Amino acid sequence: MGGLSAEERPVIGQVANDVRAAIEEVLADKQAAFDRAETERRLAAETIDVTLPGRTVATGSVHPLTKVTQEIEDIFLGMGYTIAEGPEVETDYFNFEALNLPKDHPARDMQDSFYITDEILLRTHTSPVQIRAMKNADGATPLKVICPGRVYRRDDDDATHSFMFHQIEGLVVGPDIRMSDLKGTLLQFVQAMYGPQVQIRLRPSFFPFTEPSAEVDVTCTQCGGQGCRMCKQSGWIEILGCGMVHPKVLEHGGFDPEQVSGFAFGMGVERIALLKYDIDDIRHFYNNDLRFLGQFARM
Ligand code: DAH
Repeated sequence: MGGLSAEERPVIGQVANDVRAAIEEVLADKQAAFDRAETERRLAAETIDVTLPGRTVATGSVHPLTKVTQEIEDIFLGMGYTIAEGPEVETDYFNFEALNLPKDHPARDMQDSFYITDEILLRTHTSPVQIRAMKNADGATPLKVICPGRVYRRDDDDATHSFMFHQIEGLVVGPDIRMSDLKGTLLQFVQAMYGPQVQIRLRPSFFPFTEPSAEVDVTCTQCGGQGCRMCKQSGWIEILGCGMVHPKVLEHGGFDPEQVSGFAFGMGVERIALLKYDIDDIRHFYNNDLRFLGQFARM
């Protein structure tokens, strides 16, 4: 433009403007055509059939044994207990010896065990956690713990036995703890678990780690105590073992049996769950059949 004369400049300027406008128009048309084509392609490719059923998200549910364990824990937490845990691979000392089952004690025959070495085994009950909890308390009272966990026994699996199952142990140690405290606690527990109409009865029994020892029955959850096939017409169902902690066991836990006393109990979680949900075979808990497990999602 700089080389043009004053007369030529507006003429050429006009031509340049016209050319630019023409190019811009062509570009805009092309852009619009591309946009239209892209919109049409997407409308065709991304058609949504709003009449199709939606994709549901498969949510899991809490396993019935976990659910029952948590329920039991909640009941005892509400009574001021804390939760204590111990190892599943346990020493002979904690599993037997400290619980007043010396090496030659005939009661050891009651529990066929998975031994790893002569001195180490898979725990056969949650009772060893009693000793661990007492040692941890270092003589301080009151001690109120429940101990949930897996236990192992050399049983052949059937409707009522499994080589691995779950127990919850309870232990209270303090000055002047009596058998009536044990009975009241267990009554509170079963009524919270199965309803206020349920009663308990204690039958004399034997465990090396408690003296006296008792087995506890609850009113049959099936017939309400009338007598039926499940309770073998007795109206009662056995649910746990318990007793007053043996003086030797208190000593192993670092307590002076002249100063304190205690009660203990142990229950099988599977058994509590079978009764609560009216299930007839323990193996349902381990087979991971979603048709079984799914039923507990809404409970
Ligand atoms: N440990 C026992 C068992 O495995 C259950 C048991 C009975 C635990 C009496 C206790 C108790 O604490 O006092 O069969």
